[in-house]
Amino acid sequence: MFLSKRKTVNGKGEKTMSTVKFLSGENIPLEMHKVRMVQKINLLPVEERLKCMEDAGFNTFLLKSRDIFLDMLTDSGVNAMSENQFAAMMQADDSYAGSETFYRLESVIQDIFGTKYFLPTHQGRACENIIAQTFVKPNTVALMNYHFTTTKEHIMINGGEVEEIIGDEAMQTTSDNPFKGDIDIEKLKAAINKVGKENVCFVRIEAGTNLVGGQPVSMQNMREVSKICRENGILTVFDASLLADNLYFIKTRDSEFKDVDIKEITREMMALMDVTYFSARKLGSARGGGIITSNEEAYVKMRELIPLYEGFLTYGGMSVREMEAMAVGLIETLDMDVISQTPIFVEALCEELQAKGIPVVTPPGGLGCHVDARAFCSHIPSEQYPAGALAAALFIASGVRGMERGTLSEKRLADGTQPTASMELVRLAVPKRVYTLSQVKYVADRLEWLFKNRELIGGLEFVEEPTVLRFFFGRLKPTGDWAGKLAKKFREDFGDSL
Ligand code: F0G
Repeated sequence: MFLSKRKTVNGKGEKTMSTVKFLSGENIPLEMHKVRMVQKINLLPVEERLKCMEDAGFNTFLLKSRDIFLDMLTDSGVNAMSENQFAAMMQADDSYAGSETFYRLESVIQDIFGTKYFLPTHQGRACENIIAQTFVKPNTVALMNYHFTTTKEHIMINGGEVEEIIGDEAMQTTSDNPFKGDIDIEKLKAAINKVGKENVCFVRIEAGTNLVGGQPVSMQNMREVSKICRENGILTVFDASLLADNLYFIKTRDSEFKDVDIKEITREMMALMDVTYFSARKLGSARGGGIITSNEEAYVKMRELIPLYEGFLTYGGMSVREMEAMAVGLIETLDMDVISQTPIFVEALCEELQAKGIPVVTPPGGLGCHVDARAFCSHIPSEQYPAGALAAALFIASGVRGMERGTLSEKRLADGTQPTASMELVRLAVPKRVYTLSQVKYVADRLEWLFKNRELIGGLEFVEEPTVLRFFFGRLKPTGDWAGKLAKKFREDFGDSL
């Protein structure tokens, strides 16, 4: 049964999918949209899936979209867009400088976030480049709840260090803490004392903390962090890429906000932070990014770098059509029907998997369902990348593409040592309004088969290992012929089924 424990929220006339009751008593995530444009997808036979995986060097990033059945790699740039977003794209103003599109987007951003200044960029990591170049000085430390891969790289390239001060529970895959993304306030104070406030380049809070399983941050935590930083004159940076999921969780998990408008919650968060940035490939369901702030000094410093790296200040490397889509997408982020869709499907998938005994990160977060590969493949040592191996095995077993989020995504140290990731996860992203419940059930079914046959899955080793962000295009090979054996077992068990 799906979502037996899902909480119902009824704030200020905002409906959520969970307000619809089924006669059976089942709590089924019900789509509050209809599909008016579709894309055909292919499900290849298992032997061809194996061949594709081999050709992709056992790295799901290197698979071709045409060979994938359900693409659960990411929600980045692949959320379904609304008819209003498409309509808005038709009225875009293509001017190099002073585009009307920019002013429309800027005023939407000012209205939703309550901030003064907006710097457009081509995507989230471009914001990270600008922020890191502006504020990270050699030997300074960026304190944060948790790093994101590109964030860390930008800070380190600029000579800084990253220190994670997330609560200990975030590292426990199973928990009932509703806000596992929270910063541990005692760790924050201790880190400021240890490093010295003048050596902290900024404190960064990531909404919907990606690498710990899309776990949200509470408003209470943001208030406390902001207060401490302001008392110490430390800049606060907010990564709002996964804000939509975080807003949903604040509404549904914190009774203080049950009846508070989403816009009001958003504005309070922004007022607590000095500089906010986001990937609009996620927030706003378009393709682009932006930095927003009300701090004039920070704005003026960052502004200089925009024309150098992104483009003129009124487009920042984005197509004006995407900017129009982003403006409408951001407005739609204020709609509970829109922002609840991913979290309730993630919860449905997590509960279905848990019922089958498959280890997943709990509580279910935003972005996607996170399978605990360390528990799933406990026989594979970390240095053989269990999450990478599980992601490869899942594709062979199903045509479903997930993403490794574990040791493979970590950076090797300068002396060649391989640090072990705190968590070894396979992320099955649920892009907004893209997949149906039957497709989600298919994923659960194939994962169950894989779980029953998990002893067949072996490890991976690098064949080609890039030094920067190696998980994107590194190539690996299986330790032994486990992949071939897995495909053979699939054929035996499923007969002529795809
Ligand atoms: N911050 C967070 C929290 C992210 O999740 C991402 C991207 C970025 C920054 C960078 O944004 O891709 O527009 O440059 N996350 C994607 C993902 C890639 O699949 O989780 P970007």
